[in-house]
Amino acid sequence: MFSIAIDGPAGAGKSSIARAVSKKLGIIYLDTGALYRALGYYFLEKKISIEDSLQVENIINDCDIKLLYNVAKGQQIFINGKRVDRFIRSNEVSMAASIISKNYVVRQHLLKIQKDFAKKSSVVMDGRDIGTVILPDANLKIFLTASLEVRAKRRFEQFLRNGYNIEFEEVLNDIKKRDLNDSKRKISPLKIADDAVVIDTSKLSLKESVEKVISLVKKIDLEEHC
Ligand code: DC
Repeated sequence: MFSIAIDGPAGAGKSSIARAVSKKLGIIYLDTGALYRALGYYFLEKKISIEDSLQVENIINDCDIKLLYNVAKGQQIFINGKRVDRFIRSNEVSMAASIISKNYVVRQHLLKIQKDFAKKSSVVMDGRDIGTVILPDANLKIFLTASLEVRAKRRFEQFLRNGYNIEFEEVLNDIKKRDLNDSKRKISPLKIADDAVVIDTSKLSLKESVEKVISLVKKIDLEEHC
């Protein structure tokens, strides 16, 4: 079994790079942010006050979250039997995910799903605490970063491509808020694992970033693990 942990702030390029790397290596890609987003979406739908940790903790036990993976369809997330993937990419859900991810009970709820996933197959996983908490023994740990402006611009263009009507300033401010939430929270904050390789993608194309990661993978003896 082989695992690659990719962490970093919003807009650093984690999911595009992780997806491309997983394709090149022929292993699974797991986007862990989607699990937090799915719960954020669920709480918003249920009109639960996401800042109220007691309410969140009370309702989470009723929430059966399932992660399925299929080579053709990729990752699919179900909450109480309803597939939620296409509802979780809005800015509102991004903020909700960042807020609830501070909660210990929420993190515990999602911890086992993520750890179990990596036990079954070789994987590229991206998130905020993959190298530090979920896969502390990952074969390769990468911390992706980029300047705030570049990250906000990437997210803004992604929203436009996906048909969301949003102002650049709103995206920029929300990324600032999420950076603060995600890196200053007490439990499993976003931070660089001691043994992670830091890659700044501000001036790199997707292809260049993927090549950098693949060159790091090549330095590891893949045969031994796959
Ligand atoms: O990667 P993303 O932007 O889809 O993540 C959404 C939020 O989920 C992020 O702001 C913080 C939270 N998250 C987390 O706390 N831990 C992870 N491993 C992944 C995401």
